[in-house]
Amino acid sequence: MEDDVQEQTLEQFKDKRLGGWGILQLTAGTGLAVYAMWAGVLMPGFRRVPLKLQVPYMPASKKQVGNVMSLLKGRSGGFADLGSGDGRIVLEASRQGFSPAVGYELNPWLLRLSRFYAWKAGLYGRVSYRREDLWKVDLSGYRNISIFLAPSVLTLLQEKLLVELPEDALIIAGRFPFPDWTPCRIEGQGVDRAWAYSIEAIRKQNQSKDIQSSEKSS
Ligand SMILES: C[S@@+](CC[C@H](N)C(=O)[O-])C[C@H]1O[C@@H](n2cnc3c(N)ncnc32)[C@H](O)[C@@H]1O
Repeated sequence: MEDDVQEQTLEQFKDKRLGGWGILQLTAGTGLAVYAMWAGVLMPGFRRVPLKLQVPYMPASKKQVGNVMSLLKGRSGGFADLGSGDGRIVLEASRQGFSPAVGYELNPWLLRLSRFYAWKAGLYGRVSYRREDLWKVDLSGYRNISIFLAPSVLTLLQEKLLVELPEDALIIAGRFPFPDWTPCRIEGQGVDRAWAYSIEAIRKQNQSKDIQSSEKSS
């Protein structure tokens, strides 16, 4: 009896055709599901960040983390990862002796995960993960910065770093280099490559570019 009812119901569906209204509903439903996934899981906490500045999560590989650390070798002081994901780079920086070692991240799921990993590694009190928009953080206290972001935001980030960082700061960029800066060192190959930039050298390069262009125009 129950089987008959199920068969009849299936038959009804078989005969149904998706009309314009059905397609519209299906499209809206799919769009809503994708948006819910984006807003709720991948990018929660990003409502106030302009769309063009939103960078989704993609964790650094072991090799990438290793390359960041070898570019930082011999250095000390404060370290910040801008957009710290699950906190792996901050954790490694703390292991290498950087203090304070701080990660800035907007996604609350990733912040929870970061704190869990720090606790698991016995480093809970030595690292800190802050739910702050990296564009609004005052970076003037950091000598060491790492970023694994998208090319679309790097031009704007160059300006912020140039204005705020102390003269002896070193910035490590992973996956994509800064578009207008010359690195002082490069480590690794292909997608694992990381670029180091001395803020002092970049400021000097910019000054000499300014002098050259003012000489040309006069
Ligand atoms: C490509 S992932 C890199 C994660 C981590 N640095 C790593 O390499 O494993 C970029 C991270 O930046 C975070 N993010 C993007 N825009 C941000 C913002 N304005 N403020 C704070 N975090 C941001 C994202 O949530 C994401 O976790």
